[in-house]
Amino acid sequence: MTQHIGILTSGGDSPGLNAAIRAIGKSALGSGKQVIGFRDGFRGLMENRTMRLDRDVLSSILTLGGTILGTSRDKPHRMPVGGTVMDMTDVICDNYQRHNLDALVCIGGGGTQKNAYRLSQRGLNILTLPKTIDNDVAMTDVCFGFHTAMEIATEAIDRLHSTAHSHHRIIVVEMMGHNAGWLALGAGLAAGADVILIPEIPYDMVKVAQAIRQRQLKGTRFSIVAVAEGALSRQAYDVIASYKDKKAKAKESGNEKSKKKAEEAIDEFYRGRSSHALHLSQQLEEMTGLESRITILGHLQRGGTPSAIDRVLATRLGTACVRYIDEGLSGVMVAARGEGTEAVPLDQVVGKRHVIPAGHALIESARRVGTCLGDE
Ligand code: F6P
Repeated sequence: MTQHIGILTSGGDSPGLNAAIRAIGKSALGSGKQVIGFRDGFRGLMENRTMRLDRDVLSSILTLGGTILGTSRDKPHRMPVGGTVMDMTDVICDNYQRHNLDALVCIGGGGTQKNAYRLSQRGLNILTLPKTIDNDVAMTDVCFGFHTAMEIATEAIDRLHSTAHSHHRIIVVEMMGHNAGWLALGAGLAAGADVILIPEIPYDMVKVAQAIRQRQLKGTRFSIVAVAEGALSRQAYDVIASYKDKKAKAKESGNEKSKKKAEEAIDEFYRGRSSHALHLSQQLEEMTGLESRITILGHLQRGGTPSAIDRVLATRLGTACVRYIDEGLSGVMVAARGEGTEAVPLDQVVGKRHVIPAGHALIESARRVGTCLGDE
């Protein structure tokens, strides 16, 4: 009997998605399976919007950025439909059966892993692949998309160096990463940023200004500050920590209302922070007397062709995924482990986040080359 495999991409796009679709598609077709794509994440599966994934479609997408399937952040259990938010899980399960699927591969970040896990608990055969430029999915060494984004951010900082140097300015460059600072730390280290601020280490403005002044005293009148969008001052960190604490307690006691309230407070905090880089820049101008400018890299970091490393990683995970399907596995994420892969049960992935641990080697290296991380 021919097996039928479905693929969808969900959450923010990231370089390497098409390489993964191609890898799953080609290796599935190669072993006699039929492959169908669902458009725009879980929404396409709910609305039954599909895309044929045959050899012709798959043969020219390896180097393309974005995802040929389209993506969305819609969740099966909380989907906006005709002005109201509804639980569409039953419809999604029906459509899975209607397409006679033997397995559905969901490619996405932390949110996608959670949604996929919920569907696997409803009895669907689900496998996932970890992608996100934030690199914060738990239980995998790395996520595809991250390497490309780090290259883009590194090139941007390299270019900002010469203009900051010429004008004797501070340039605050903001990178993506709400909860994890892998991108800011990686690109900041690669491009020699003088200050790197990440969500894992609360910063003190006085320490940051001091580091820049020290450079001035030694005759260097420019500085590059690489900041992750989720980096927090010590005061803000404490506020967020108290909301997170409330959320965890409400979750434990099953108090949905309090949990939602805490989540809204956290969202509200980040929404009101859209000019975080600007605020930092203005403060640094005042505290150092140097002129300062900002650059927000934003979605540039997610766009365009994937790096060779991401193409290879996506191909490695995608082909392993089909091997796991052949072995009868489901309810697993195909994780990158060393040079190979590992099928990690989804219940070990959800509810966790891969942030930079205190004392990580890269943090140590940054300190040793004299980079200020805002805390000392
Ligand atoms: O997918 C992760 C991410 O790129 C984060 O780094 C960023 O905060 C967020 O997505 C932006 O999301 P959107 O594209 O929906 O604005």
